[in-house]
Amino acid sequence: MKTAILFASSHGTTKMLAELIAQKLKNTTVDLINLKKIKTPQLAEYNTIIIGCSIHAGNIKSVVKKVFENNLVLLRSKNIALFLCCMNEHQKEAQFNNVFPEWLRKTSICNITPGGEFLFEEMNFIEKAIVRKVSKIDSTVSQIDYAEIDKLVEVINKNSCA
Ligand SMILES: Cc1cc2nc3c(=O)[nH]c(=O)nc-3n(C[C@H](O)[C@H](O)[C@H](O)COP(=O)(O)O)c2cc1C
Repeated sequence: MKTAILFASSHGTTKMLAELIAQKLKNTTVDLINLKKIKTPQLAEYNTIIIGCSIHAGNIKSVVKKVFENNLVLLRSKNIALFLCCMNEHQKEAQFNNVFPEWLRKTSICNITPGGEFLFEEMNFIEKAIVRKVSKIDSTVSQIDYAEIDKLVEVINKNSCA
């Protein structure tokens, strides 16, 4: 069994969660693929593909969308799981449905929104201003739901045993 965890991260939270998932997976070899570095990953060899990204101003990075667009047929033949880091608790489901196309959400065996972090020390001036204005938050805060991560890991581990 081979698993790819594809991720794109601005300030490190999605990367950290992708690495955590990789540590917790059993009965599979795992490749962590940073989409900022490898923009067109070769996915044919993997049984399971986990895609993780974060939302910024309502959208995800185009490099992640390219993976869906370039692998329309291939992704339908794999075990897929999706996670979206976001800080707007009330909008998390709507945002998830907005950024991942319906066919992918329905193909996926586990969809999670594990929260996120505002890491002020990693933000530039404009990002800080946006976060202060929109969320009224002024300092670093972590709102990660680790139970969601465990849920995804459990689903993938059960699937790897089957
Ligand atoms: C400039 C900026 C804009 C953001 N916009 C949104 C947003 O539209 N909706 C949301 O739920 N979270 C938003 N967030 C929160 C991010 O999704 C969260 O910080 C996430 O943990 C970032 O993960 P990353 O460091 O892996 O990119 C925003 C964060 C920043 C810094």
